[in-house]
Amino acid sequence: MKFLNIVGTAREGRKSVRAAKKVDELLQEKGEETFFYDLKEKEIPPVGNRTYTDEGPVPEDIQDLREKVLEADCIILTVPEYNHSIPGILKTTIDYMYPEYDEKPFAYVTVSGGGFGGVRALSHLHDITLEIGGQPGPSIQISNISKTLNEDAEITDEAYRDRFNNFIEKVQEFTEKRKPVQ
Ligand SMILES: Cc1cc2nc3c(=O)[nH]c(=O)nc-3n(C[C@H](O)[C@H](O)[C@H](O)COP(=O)(O)O)c2cc1C
Repeated sequence: MKFLNIVGTAREGRKSVRAAKKVDELLQEKGEETFFYDLKEKEIPPVGNRTYTDEGPVPEDIQDLREKVLEADCIILTVPEYNHSIPGILKTTIDYMYPEYDEKPFAYVTVSGGGFGGVRALSHLHDITLEIGGQPGPSIQISNISKTLNEDAEITDEAYRDRFNNFIEKVQEFTEKRKPVQ
């Protein structure tokens, strides 16, 4: 199956990218195909022309993302909680598209520096996913990210090893069940 793995922040020094890398690695170990789309490496201007209208040209990085969204069997969003919500750049990226998300399965990796694991961002992600016609799926909440994964995306809090493995299993199962019949 094909997984689009979006890193939802472009902040200098962001730590949530570690969680996205770990998820990518674990999916690949299971033989899955992944596409890593890191917002830090992309040019995402404020929403101008959306992909599904004839209002004019769409940024190249968004056009590329559109192809990946259409191809993906599941979109995994790795999202740090910012001010009890999701980073603005991720919302901007999502807002460029709409019909592309129809019935698309979504999974979520939410991250916080403290103890709440980004649950308030997760709640907003569920709302957004439903509005764009996607299917909200499994999630993992990662608290105290600095103590959970090191800079090389290695697990440093052993309690999380099973949690990551369970998340990957659930994501595979959820996606498999929703894969369109060819
Ligand atoms: C702009 C901003 C707002 C934040 N707001 C919250 C918040 O509302 N709740 C929370 O638990 N952590 C919050 N944090 C801390 C993040 O959880 C922390 O930065 C963590 O390392 C994950 O995000 P990162 O990938 O940017 O490092 C905030 C961080 C930033 C930069």
